[in-house]
This record gives sequence, structure tokens and C-alpha cells, in this order.
Amino acid sequence: MTSEIKDAREYFRSKYKQIEDLPGIGEATATTLKKAGFSSVEMIASATAKELMTGGLGEETANKVIELARKGFAHAFITGSQLMELRRNQEFLTTGCDSLDELMTREDQVGKPKGLPTESITELVGENGSGKSQLSHQLCVTVQLPKSVGGLEGNALYIDTEQVFTPSRVIQISKRFSDLLGDKKGTKILDGITYAEAYTSDHQAALLAGAEDVIKENNIKLIVIDSLTGNFRAEFLGREMLSSRQQSISEHMHKLMRMAVVFKCVAVVTNQVQADPTPYSGFDPKPIGGHIVGHISHDRIFIRKLKDGKRIAKILKSPFLPEGEAVMHLTDEGMVGERTDAPKSDEI
Ligand SMILES: Nc1ncnc2c1ncn2[C@@H]1O[C@H](COP(=O)(O)OP(=O)(O)OP(=O)(O)O)[C@@H](O)[C@H]1O
Ligand SMILES: [Mg+2]
Repeated sequence: MTSEIKDAREYFRSKYKQIEDLPGIGEATATTLKKAGFSSVEMIASATAKELMTGGLGEETANKVIELARKGFAHAFITGSQLMELRRNQEFLTTGCDSLDELMTREDQVGKPKGLPTESITELVGENGSGKSQLSHQLCVTVQLPKSVGGLEGNALYIDTEQVFTPSRVIQISKRFSDLLGDKKGTKILDGITYAEAYTSDHQAALLAGAEDVIKENNIKLIVIDSLTGNFRAEFLGREMLSSRQQSISEHMHKLMRMAVVFKCVAVVTNQVQADPTPYSGFDPKPIGGHIVGHISHDRIFIRKLKDGKRIAKILKSPFLPEGEAVMHLTDEGMVGERTDAPKSDEI
């Protein structure tokens, strides 16, 4: 399986550049696929027939299109060294909080900026007021920073299910990065954020499914869903609804994961915990959506709220990181590692 491929990403790049290039796919089918939110061959190759059918395509055609799209990829199997080469292309987005960046640093990340990985879902879990949305606002700023300082020189897509997104807070947080933002300062930072409100779980899923063009056209490198589970939790009530709720959340997250991989984005979802966590030992946070959400997210970070703006980030689950904790502080400037005006007492 040696190859002359220069860029490791070629291993998984389709020979078909656009849908119309797929053999036997006419304009009408391409239009129907786009209506279902599919405008790239990569997304079709990783879709289910059911998803393609939402635009009106028959099941047989949907299966045929998926098969064609998959055939466009030169490699289904790669070697471990090729995988390592591929992983080397993964980028990282600084959170703007150095203690959290440090916590998120993997062993194979030497020489790269620290922070949240592209092509992956990071789940921020925590009780009400722990700072999940605040951190998400901050990432909308850091994603716009130059790569040389840990940004991705890209833009953000914010899917807001709780009407919490606050443009003025983004501007306030961005002041700390003012020197690094070039001409993106002030209100211009907001032009780098595409925003959508999701009223129901169906709407939320449809917004994400239809976001392919928005992502491509706006150089989106960060997708935030804040909160991932709120709508599902409100709509699917009772034990008898549990399995359909889990199924819907799972489909939604798989879609997000595929988008993160195809468009090389950082995906961040926020999620609440079921009951009030206690700050004592034996504490066992129970994120909403249970195992399904945790299983699909790569990294699950729990944020614990302490006194005086102090927060503890703890890795609940990660395939790449050892267990660990980081101390953070929620301030006017956003989420920071060290605070200059720290209170003397270390009480919690
Ligand atoms: N300008 C600011 N300066 C300092 N702290 C702020 C500022 N704005 C908001 N906060 C703090 O942020 C906290 C709320 O954080 P956030 O909204 O991110 O919580 P959350 O984890 O998203 O909660 P929820 O689960 O309810 O969505 C509050 O403690 C609030 O005091
Ligand atoms: Mg929130």
C-alpha cells in the first residue's frame, strides 16, 4: 500500500470533484441531492440512503448514488504509518485559555499549536452557568486568529438552541486578542460568525444538514451546537420516548462528525448534566443524552463551577488524552488560565 501520494489526505479524497462528475448522475438527481443538503461527494459517500431520500430520491437510486460516491475513493484501507501521516494533518484550535489548551494536548502533537482538534467533536459538559456557552463564544473569536498563534484563520457557525448567543460578549472577549486579530477587530469579528437559531430538534437537525454550502462558502472552521441536547430533552419526554430520542441524537451527531471530518472543522457541542453535581469525592456527573452522546464525541470535557469565577475542566473521556484537570477562570475577558486579579482565598 505504498503510494506516491504527496498529501496524506489524498488517501481519502474522491476522484470525483462534484456530484455531477459521478458516472450516470444527471442534473435532475444532482439537484434533488442538493435539495436534501448534499452538495459534496464526500458527504454522500458517508451518508445513509435514508438521509439522501429526504430530498425526494427513491431508495434504489439513493443506494446507487452512495455506492458510486464510495467507489471514487482510491483507498478504503490504509496502513498504520499512512494513518499517522494523515493524523499529522490534523489541526488544533486554541481555546484562548492556556490551562485548557495544555490539558487538551496529545502526545503526538509536538510542535503544533495546542487546543481542540479538527475533524473531531469536543463535548463541553457542565451544570447551568458552568461556562460552556462562554467558552463557545470565545472559540468563535480564536478560530479567526492566524494559525501562527493557534487560530484556524477561519470562521464560526453557531447553532443556538437556547437563544443565548450574545454578539456584544464576543466583542468584549475579542479585546484580549485585539493585537492578533489584525483588521478583524471590534464589530468586524462578528462578520466571521454565521448564526442560526434552532427552535426544535427537527429544525436543529435540518439546519445542520443544510449547512454544507454555508460551511464551504464562509470558510467555516468551527461548528458550535449550543446546546446539543436541550431541544431533544424538552421534546422527547418519558421512558417510552427514550429510544427514539437517542436514535435522533445519534443521527444528528453522526452528521456533525461527518461534517467535521469532510470540512476539516472543529466541532463543539454543549451538554448539561442531569442532576446537580456535588463538589465532593464520589461525584459522578451524568450528561444528558447518556452514552450515545459520549460515545460519538471524541473528547468529553466536564466543567465544574466553583466560587469567584473559578472553574475546573476535567477530561471525562478521550481516546487520545490521559485523565487530568485544569483550573480556569471565567472573567470579563472570557475564560482564562491565570487571572491577574485572583482572589487570595483558594476556597471553593
Ligand atoms: N461579562 C462577563 N464577565 C464575567 N463572567 C460572565 C460574563 N458574562 C457571563 N458571565 C458568567 O458566565 C456564567 C454563565 O456561563 P454560561 O452561560 O457559559 O453557562 P453554561 O454552562 O452555558 O450554562 P447553561 O447550561 O445554562 O447553558 C455566569 O456565571 C456568568 O456570571
Ligand atoms: Mg449555555
